[in-house]
Amino acid sequence: MCATQVFKIAVIPGDGIGPEVVEEGVRVLDHLAHTAGGAFAFEYVRFPWGCRYYLDTGRMMDADGLDRLAAFDAIYFGAVGWPSVPDHISLWGLRLAICQGFDQYANVRPVRLLPGLQSALRNPPPAMAWVVVRENTEGEYAGLGGRNLRGRGPGKEVAIQSSLFTDEGCERIMRFAFEMARSRPRKRVTSVTKSNAQQYGMVLWDEVFHRVARQYPDVETDQGLVDAMAARFVLRPDTLEVVVASNLFADILSDLGSALVGDLGVAASANLNPAHRYPSMFEPVHGSAPDIAGQGIANPIGAIWSAALMLEHLGLSAQADRIMRAVAATTAAGQVTPDLGGRSTTRGVGDAIMTQLSRTAGA
Ligand code: NAI
Ligand code: MG
Repeated sequence: MCATQVFKIAVIPGDGIGPEVVEEGVRVLDHLAHTAGGAFAFEYVRFPWGCRYYLDTGRMMDADGLDRLAAFDAIYFGAVGWPSVPDHISLWGLRLAICQGFDQYANVRPVRLLPGLQSALRNPPPAMAWVVVRENTEGEYAGLGGRNLRGRGPGKEVAIQSSLFTDEGCERIMRFAFEMARSRPRKRVTSVTKSNAQQYGMVLWDEVFHRVARQYPDVETDQGLVDAMAARFVLRPDTLEVVVASNLFADILSDLGSALVGDLGVAASANLNPAHRYPSMFEPVHGSAPDIAGQGIANPIGAIWSAALMLEHLGLSAQADRIMRAVAATTAAGQVTPDLGGRSTTRGVGDAIMTQLSRTAGA
């Protein structure tokens, strides 16, 4: 018998519905390992970081947090944010600290209409499936700027928030997008900027895009401004395959994409360090949803799909496919949470997905 391959996973459930959906993802992973006959297993270490931790300790994560996480094969993340802590503190103190600290420069956000789910579009095209590739370490989220003239009285303060675009940062995310396009049926990359108004950083982005595109003559390219692209997501989603955009633009467009194919609860993401130098992090796109936290009705599909992306990154593609087939069978059967018009609970959806997995055990 082959030795069991053990993957060490750092689990950071975070706040609000984060722990509820992550729990379902962990159950699905364990079920998968269990039904795979001992070929692989997951070893989890849970970290209590998040807003409650901040209120208790004054820190979103421990000072040596990144050093401790560095030892893991991957990080499985829920969501951060709670009304009693300012959002910029919770996001910068944990999620962004990990993405930037581990150089997870490629944020991959697949958009796909799962069977049985209703698109928000009146006339959706037959297949809705594309990927948003988000630059994840610089751009508008570089954290550059400051506030000045504070305390001078009302109306006097100024704030500057600068975007950072480096040639190297643009080039590597574009290469990533082009490589991904090569692996897809329609080899096409669409680049999004606002380089008519943002005349420095985004013009550099455009120039690097043209340079990289020349090295991928087999991949079709096009470009659009972000405002027109928002309209195109709604009006011509059939023209999208791999969409590459800056940190902020891709964040917004991917939420729009997930709304078009169901809602935010199904959207999954991978924060990748493609070189595998540091662990990558996998998380649903949604936040901590304080409005429904604790009710047991959060949609766990985004978190479970993110677990599938994690398996793909760990080299378990066949297992990732099994999860996605089980998720598709579950949505097709209408076993979904209220946000998708169903009556299932978070746990109920997790159970349904595991039942589907059992049907394909050993497959
Ligand atoms: P949100 O994604 O938490 O919620 C937006 C809406 O979608 C809410 O009505 C919520 O109930 C619903 N929703 C989200 N996920 C759902 C799910 N799995 N099932 C069913 N319904 C779901 O975004 P919001 O309200 O803007 O932010 C809440 C908090 O989350 C804030 O503190 C924010 O900073 C944080 N946040 C954290 C993120 C992360 O950790 N990656 C990402 C986005 C927001
Ligand atoms: Mg977002």
